Amino acid sequence: MPTGVLSSSPESAQPSVPRAAVVGCGDISAQHLAAIGSLAALGAVRLVGVVDPDPRRREAAAEAHHAPGYASVGELLARGGVDVVHLCTPHSEHAPAALEALEAGVHVLTEKPLAHTLADAERLTEAADAAWLASGTQLGVCFQNRYNAPVVAMRDLLEGGTLGAVTGAEATVMWHRPAAYYAARPWRGTWAGSGGGLLMNQAIHTLDLLQWLVGPARLVDGRASARALGNVIEVEDTADMVLEHAGGQRSVFFATNANGVNAPVTLDIQTEAGELSLRGALTVRHGDGRVEVVEEAGVLVGERSYWGASHQLLIADFYRCLRARERFWIGAEEGAQTLRLIKDVYARSYAPDMWR
Ligand SMILES: NC(=O)c1ccc[n+]([C@@H]2O[C@H](COP(=O)([O-])OP(=O)(O)OC[C@H]3O[C@@H](n4cnc5c(N)ncnc54)[C@H](O)[C@@H]3O)[C@@H](O)[C@H]2O)c1
Repeated sequence: MPTGVLSSSPESAQPSVPRAAVVGCGDISAQHLAAIGSLAALGAVRLVGVVDPDPRRREAAAEAHHAPGYASVGELLARGGVDVVHLCTPHSEHAPAALEALEAGVHVLTEKPLAHTLADAERLTEAADAAWLASGTQLGVCFQNRYNAPVVAMRDLLEGGTLGAVTGAEATVMWHRPAAYYAARPWRGTWAGSGGGLLMNQAIHTLDLLQWLVGPARLVDGRASARALGNVIEVEDTADMVLEHAGGQRSVFFATNANGVNAPVTLDIQTEAGELSLRGALTVRHGDGRVEVVEEAGVLVGERSYWGASHQLLIADFYRCLRARERFWIGAEEGAQTLRLIKDVYARSYAPDMWR
């Protein structure tokens, strides 16, 4: 898969078929359980538990996937016999669960964001590096859109050099999240549960892609606020940013959950000899007038049309790295980099006691 930057791990004893557990049995867990199911059919992983403090969700997942249910990560780890945890919990629960698992020598694949505060992200980055060095224990972050076929094509084209250097970029995320979306899961609208709103939960994927494709960025300026749902959520539903990437290029970014529909994410990158334009599919405009299109594999419907196609690809690649004892390429530092940008926007928009 894409540009694995991989070093080999210290020796660690692993059973031949890794034993996985899914922590948090809400909306996104279905993607992880489906991917684990596909890999299990190939004998590449075995589901040994599901974890959720909510007995209804826990029991439903346990029954559907024929795996024992646990009320907490602590209970799962105390029972033993697990090699990998998939963290699909509210944001505030990522770091505590990940730290507990790494401490026990259990690999972690966490949903984005890495953590809900910068302090937790830094603790986790240190713990992940230490766990890798000590025992080859891994932490991966679920930025699955890096595996979407048009995005991989963008990265390959930019690295191939035929389009010349990047000169600038622009991105938009124009989505629709009604009050009911927050009412269904109140943590999503709070600083304590989510650590932020639209940027932490939705637009983070596009910010990650911008940095992966154009280079690490610093915030030139940006603001976030609740412009439509201020009576429903504490956190922002809209944000704008100007970024400067490591090569000196500028990008502009606008995102909102206050749009009337879930419009396709747009990501346009201008280069010395052409332009890359992502709207689900990728359109490549070459300087000589040629136009090429790279489609996503399959038609995405429902939630997948905005989550992206590629949970399955990322999860399979994570397990490939575990087997090969190679460090997974989207780790804690990658997660922390995007979190720093987001928190920098909050620092310019809210009092410190709210967003920290
Ligand atoms: N990668 C993507 O495209 C994508 C898409 C949607 C959601 N997500 C991420 O997935 C995560 C979960 O989001 P969701 O929408 O599925 O949330 P959700 O509220 O639907 O599910 C979260 C589940 O975690 C459980 N839970 C709470 N505290 C827990 C704990 N300490 N231990 C174990 N379980 C706990 C809850 O009871 C709930 O069942 C978030 O990090 C979110 O940002 C990622």
